[in-house]
Amino acid sequence: MSAPVVLILAAGLGTRMKSAKAKVLHEVSGRPLICWAVETARTAGSDRIVAILGHQLDEVKQVLADRFGEDGVTIAHQKEQKGTGHAILCALPSLENEPDDRTVVILTGDAPLLRAERVADLAAACEASESKMALLSTIPPEAVAYGRLLRDESGKLLRIVENADATDEEKAIKEMNAGFYAINLGVLRREVASLSSDNAQGELYLTDLAEQAAARGGAAVIDAPFDEICGINDRMDLSRVSGSARRRINESWMLKGVTLQDEASTFIDADVAEIGQDTTLGANVHLRGKTTIGSGVFIDTGCVLTDVSVDDDTWIKPSSVLSESKIGKRVQVGPFTHLRPQSILDEDCKVGNFVEMKKTHIMAGAKASRLSYLGDASIGAKANIGAGTITCNYDGFRKHKTTIEAGAFIGSDSQLVAPVTIGRDAFVGAGTTVTKDVPRAALALGRSKQVNVEGWADRFREAQKKRQR
Ligand code: UD1
Ligand code: MG
Repeated sequence: MSAPVVLILAAGLGTRMKSAKAKVLHEVSGRPLICWAVETARTAGSDRIVAILGHQLDEVKQVLADRFGEDGVTIAHQKEQKGTGHAILCALPSLENEPDDRTVVILTGDAPLLRAERVADLAAACEASESKMALLSTIPPEAVAYGRLLRDESGKLLRIVENADATDEEKAIKEMNAGFYAINLGVLRREVASLSSDNAQGELYLTDLAEQAAARGGAAVIDAPFDEICGINDRMDLSRVSGSARRRINESWMLKGVTLQDEASTFIDADVAEIGQDTTLGANVHLRGKTTIGSGVFIDTGCVLTDVSVDDDTWIKPSSVLSESKIGKRVQVGPFTHLRPQSILDEDCKVGNFVEMKKTHIMAGAKASRLSYLGDASIGAKANIGAGTITCNYDGFRKHKTTIEAGAFIGSDSQLVAPVTIGRDAFVGAGTTVTKDVPRAALALGRSKQVNVEGWADRFREAQKKRQR
């Protein structure tokens, strides 16, 4: 059996979503629906993937090109949405060079949780069947507006009746069409040309291929659980499928040795590729985008990490928000730390509460334990950044760089007016506004001299009391 050609139905607007955005661009676990379908096809080993697009063609095309490259997915354009059968007609020219004996698997672009093994199962069932067609069926826990499977007494599939066309009696049928098919390409070419739009929606139904297959002995039917094939037609479906995706992803990480303190409130995006063994995620943790986490890491409650890499044995304390940053081994971050893009924390650093960093590299063993803004800065190994230190990196027009060399000590409440360099092992006295470079091992002191006026407070109080009388 060779890998199948995969066609993805994705041209519809998805009217029931009530959205300005094409349905297949809505996300489940941080990944657009259309990309779930393509990933499934790739995992199944398909060497030829065609997405049939219509609504917001350019936007969807761009999302696919960004993720899979310009040539990763062939695009077929269905200008007007005249039904799923019509969509396949629009895709056939893209398969011009494929021989008749290939197997085509058709996926709906709005059902992201189909397992890749099903693609192979469908293709195999199609190839083994006399009719050269197979499809997935499902029995939903409650009635949904799907096509119903009509079988004869022997169990042979006679046809599929769409919800809109079904009589009350037919609507009572529990076995439904999941919307996934495999069919021989030669048969598809022949049969799809003869579909008719004589139905309640005036569309060319792909599902009518089942009736044609009945004449060839009947399509093979494989049963699948509803949770796996559930299509997204409205926001309730989106929520339901998102919940199933979250649970499936969470379970897969737990099986790999990750502890989730509260599975129900842990959100790990589908594209998070690595979480090491013995890592613990607290309640309400969100791992987004292409975040990767090493082993023995503790990410405590309420943290949101987007496109962040965290190395082994690091501790991210509660309520920290980290984006596009790289964090080394044995680092401590938080609570309440905000790392903005291009923050790099080398091993054994410590960044504490109410520290905001942006485009700043803090080297091994350096500390900024509380209350700082560090932007466009480089902070050398073992430097100590006191509470209230601010890099003044912006003059209203341009950003400027602050360099703090290894071992330097920045006293509390200091402002470092960039561009500026604090030399190796230098000290900046508390409350200093640094406006020029500080040489190696020097002390910079920029505050005015203190004056003590003896007995002043007593005299002041006395004078005030007299005025009140
Ligand atoms: C379809 C099936 C139904 C099945 C259900 C399972 C048909 C006629 N009906 O119904 O039997 O139970 O899926 O989820 O096939 N699309 C196009 N071009 C079009 C119309 C649709 O590309 O002209 C795409 C949509 O973008 C979507 C998919 O095909 O990704 C399914 O279309 P949708 O309108 O959701 O069909 P359902 O009513 O769900
Ligand atoms: Mg649908």
